[in-house]
Amino acid sequence: MLSTELEIAVQKAPQEQLKEKPDQNALGFGSIFTDHMFVMRWNRDQGWHDARIQPYQDFSMDPAAMVFHYGQAIFEGLKAYYGDQGEILLFRPRSNFERMNKSAVRMCMPRIPVDRMLQALKALVYLERSWVPTAPGATLYLRPTMIASEPALGLRPSDEYIFFILASPVGAYYAEGFNPVKIYVESKYVRAVPGGVGEAKTAGNYAASVKALTEAQRNGYTQVLWLDALEHKYIEEVGTSNAFFVLDDELITPPLAGTILPGVTRDSVLQLAHDRGMKVNERRISIDEVVKAAEDGSLQEVFSTGTAAVISPLGELFYKGERIIINNGETGPVARHFFDELQAIQFGRRPDPHEWMVRVA
Ligand code: COI
Repeated sequence: MLSTELEIAVQKAPQEQLKEKPDQNALGFGSIFTDHMFVMRWNRDQGWHDARIQPYQDFSMDPAAMVFHYGQAIFEGLKAYYGDQGEILLFRPRSNFERMNKSAVRMCMPRIPVDRMLQALKALVYLERSWVPTAPGATLYLRPTMIASEPALGLRPSDEYIFFILASPVGAYYAEGFNPVKIYVESKYVRAVPGGVGEAKTAGNYAASVKALTEAQRNGYTQVLWLDALEHKYIEEVGTSNAFFVLDDELITPPLAGTILPGVTRDSVLQLAHDRGMKVNERRISIDEVVKAAEDGSLQEVFSTGTAAVISPLGELFYKGERIIINNGETGPVARHFFDELQAIQFGRRPDPHEWMVRVA
């Protein structure tokens, strides 16, 4: 595609079809969608074309579309924030779009220039600016997605794709909000294997995790903590988020070695920790080390980071029949600090030293 701007056709929903805005204090996560969506198509001859913002509506797809059969689907998650001065802000959108292109390469899907995706996102958010919640902590969650749309049953990369962006006003991801969650340490199922697609944000990773999540929830746990696939020993991720440990005043998180998602919130927390002068270590950490540290008192906090969940403190781990209580089941000062700091930057209440925020309006 040439380096000119995207030409986006805008078809606004008629006034009488505009949806009623939801109660901002009871949003939950991901079940309400705004009035419009962005859509763009790709094929081998035309590349990316037919960019449009249109009323939110169903897709009509051939049942043989390859996404239904072979799962070529990638997505991103980011948020728009209503700032204290009434401005509308995005948090590190370029990082999401760079990651989306990496996912595309891994899944043999076409890339999209980051500037074009950002232009599309800003245009959609601007049009939907009245949907960005103003209630404390609530945001407009944005879901850029790409799917294989060619109708064909032979296994190969699709020759046609649809890229779209949805917008959904959201509150907290977990019912617990910022309160500590209980986590089941998963030692039977695995999320990703070396050489697999664990670092791509592709639908199959999420599909593969649902069985473990369901079983954990049936046992009263909110999420699972994944261990590595080879030895069932090293910590990978917490559900759909990255894992952090505070051990002897040091912040530890598993390294990006191909099987975990390179989280934008993970990267931001690492940067904020460096800014704060904290000792930071990206290294492998085993579940046995965590159990031992909990026993000898050196484990201070565990929390997870992700766009949807922001920072989520872990109050309890259940591993092989034992309950490991962390920080008396309470939110610790390090998780609290990163939560406050990140949210203050995201909502424009604090200076943004790393120029993470992008203004839409
Ligand atoms: C996010 O945190 O934005 C994600 O994409 C995870 C999803 C399961 C909500």
